[in-house]
Amino acid sequence: MPDAKGTEGPDTVLVGVTGGIAAYKSCEIIRSMVKEGLDVHAVMTRNAQEFITPLTLQVLSGNPVWTETFHLTQEQEIGHISLVDRSSLFLIAPATANVLGKVAAGIADDLLTTMVCAATKIPVVFAPSMNVNMYQNPITQENIKRLKGLGYVFIEPEEGDLACGYQGVGRLADPQEIVEHVLSRLEPKDLQNERILVTAGPTEEAIDPVRFLTNPSSGKMGYAIARAAAQRGAQVTLISGPTACTPPLDVTLVRVRSAEEMRKAVMKAFPKSTTVIMAAAVSDFSPASRAKQKVKKQDASLTVKLKTTPDILFELGQKKQDRLLIGFAAETQSLVKNAKEKVEKKNLDLIVANDVSRKEIGFQSDSNQVKLIGPDGKVSELPFLPKRILAHRVLDQIEILRSRPGKKGRR
Ligand code: PMT
Repeated sequence: MPDAKGTEGPDTVLVGVTGGIAAYKSCEIIRSMVKEGLDVHAVMTRNAQEFITPLTLQVLSGNPVWTETFHLTQEQEIGHISLVDRSSLFLIAPATANVLGKVAAGIADDLLTTMVCAATKIPVVFAPSMNVNMYQNPITQENIKRLKGLGYVFIEPEEGDLACGYQGVGRLADPQEIVEHVLSRLEPKDLQNERILVTAGPTEEAIDPVRFLTNPSSGKMGYAIARAAAQRGAQVTLISGPTACTPPLDVTLVRVRSAEEMRKAVMKAFPKSTTVIMAAAVSDFSPASRAKQKVKKQDASLTVKLKTTPDILFELGQKKQDRLLIGFAAETQSLVKNAKEKVEKKNLDLIVANDVSRKEIGFQSDSNQVKLIGPDGKVSELPFLPKRILAHRVLDQIEILRSRPGKKGRR
């Protein structure tokens, strides 16, 4: 199984589940982590097993679930130590007041707390969940303060309706946010000196107040790049046309509608960027004029006159200086020939060329297959990959491009 970048083995992550009603949310957390390509091993306290069964987590993680300190099979190779040693991160979600108290006091009286005690060389991340009064109890707060001071990481609980019927702080953070946090911690911060401007999604060119021209871009490709770049430590501005994609964590999102709006937003963010990646499917045409009122249906056919939109990437190519400029080419024929022409015309450092006539890649799909083409005309073909992994492959090119002779490093 590939890791997040599709290159080495997967990261092993331990997920500790303690006994609170939010234990059921660990199912979603584990399922998402496995989907992201992580090797997940669950550890459950006795109380957690009152809420969900080890079998559930075993099926979802695809690995045996750890429950007993003195289980002979599990302990053949002093499993609680060796598993911690080969893990990259230990997440405890949900973390009860009890487990926080035990870890803060150095108590290791069950398998989970023993493993946390042994986890001195990897990040240990707590996602607390409990009743508001228990959370605000000065003892709990002191324990959290102590643990934070010792380098333990916290994903703060949310405020809202609690399962116990109370209102207040104490609800487990959103499971997807927890997963994003974990993924982000696992990524090397190799792009932390980059300020990356990413565009994504389609544009909509209005004909009248209720009709517009657009294309099938879902935004998945651009959002995957923005998300991966943020996970790798880059400052990311994502300029997005209308999409249903979830905004990635730690990204400045600017929503636009038309090509003209996208151009304005890009030009505003461009001066501060070190790298631009244009994955958006910017409409090449827009109606020459926009009717103020809804155009009435007529029996005769309707002719809409179109004008070309500004070519944003071309404009950036004229003033890029030391910035890296990476474009996409969406083609239905002569993929390499057309992509090479775009590299030259738009003064790009790299183009990511995809054949959008293929249903299983390009627009809307979760995967893509692309060719990378530079100004020297060299073509390298990447395999069929999930867009989240392909995003990392595209980002890997940044360092390669920066190390080219004559290309200055980041400013
Ligand atoms: O969003 P998804 O559903 O995940 O689909 C992904 C994708 C197919 C949209 C993506 O992989 C892709 O190919 N994006 C580029 C689409 C496109 O507009 O290609 P193009 O060959 O028409 O344009 C070439 C480059 O110029 C692109 O980087 C484009 O952003 C840019 N451009 C185009 C027109 C224009 N007016 N201004 C531009 O800057």
